[in-house]
Amino acid sequence: MRVLVTGGAGYVGSVSVERLLDAGHEVVVLDDLTTGHRASVPGAASLEIASYGDGAAMGRLFERARVDAILHCAARSLVGESVREPARYYRDNVSGGIVLLEAARQAGVGRLVFSSTAAVYGVPERTPIPETAPLAPINPYGETKRTFEGALRFYAEAYGLRSVSLRYFNVAGATERNGELHDPETHLIPSVLRAAETGAPISLFGDDYPTLDGTCVRDYIHVADLADAHLTALEATAPDDARTDAALVCNLGIGAGFSVREVVDAAAAVVGRPIPATMGPRRVGDPPVLVAAVDRAREVLGWTAQRPTLEEMIGSAWAWRRTHLDESGARIS
Ligand code: UFG
Repeated sequence: MRVLVTGGAGYVGSVSVERLLDAGHEVVVLDDLTTGHRASVPGAASLEIASYGDGAAMGRLFERARVDAILHCAARSLVGESVREPARYYRDNVSGGIVLLEAARQAGVGRLVFSSTAAVYGVPERTPIPETAPLAPINPYGETKRTFEGALRFYAEAYGLRSVSLRYFNVAGATERNGELHDPETHLIPSVLRAAETGAPISLFGDDYPTLDGTCVRDYIHVADLADAHLTALEATAPDDARTDAALVCNLGIGAGFSVREVVDAAAAVVGRPIPATMGPRRVGDPPVLVAAVDRAREVLGWTAQRPTLEEMIGSAWAWRRTHLDESGARIS
């Protein structure tokens, strides 16, 4: 199949592009390179530098590229920024997303896989969280993702769009070619590894939560496992596949959690020295525990995480940083 990957120069998008190419599919990457990296796009994929929210550009692209399916990874994705600048999130994640859907509809492209997030659940009543749990996002990031999921549901009913929304939990790790690099970096694992590189301590956000060691627990999932799930989800949008007769939603996680302290200890084992860290206050909006129920992904998509250990996730991220980043933390290859 020929797949359009929006955000294909970003972290999750680029690893998914690698996976699609490995599986023998053709890939067109769409990225405006505001947060993506040109170096992340393999030569075998073609790169279109444009925004998915530009209807005219999308119309021309669909006319020219003749894609069979869309993997929609592009989005604004920082929780804190979304609270400060909700307009940017509604404009890009919601309005931009609808522009993409409309261009696809006009071009007759009826298959889409969407990067959604555990942030749609807000602070869950219980964990592991099933897909049927109430959606109660507590920030504009989660709310805009929830809104787009809603559009997919009604586009399925009215127009027959086949879609899968994948609710990612905490994505981590790297392939040999692509890893996680944000500016600013707010995520735990790259921040821990940066602390190991620079010696500047990472601040840990609270140890007074109702968890075994007092720090927050998250369900970390290897980005390569996520990419496998994208491929499987794209296959599930085939025209005769009953799994997507209605819009499908699946959590993606390993179904188990690690605490912040466990992550720091695992990182110390990977890099071979202690990680400088200080204990600070709680970060506003952090739920104590977020763990995915993963039965639906297993039963419906036939997918389970193949790389569920912190050693694999942190080890691959560390190897990638040592190969692709310079001492200042900038990407060099
Ligand atoms: N943490 C620290 N210090 C840091 C960074 C993070 O202690 O410098 C802690 C956080 O408090 C949290 C854990 O590490 O307990 C993980 O934090 P991340 O920022 O890496 O990830 P989040 O769990 O906050 O966010 C993830 C996704 C979001 C998604 C959210 C759903 O990255 O996109 O889950 O709630 F919205």
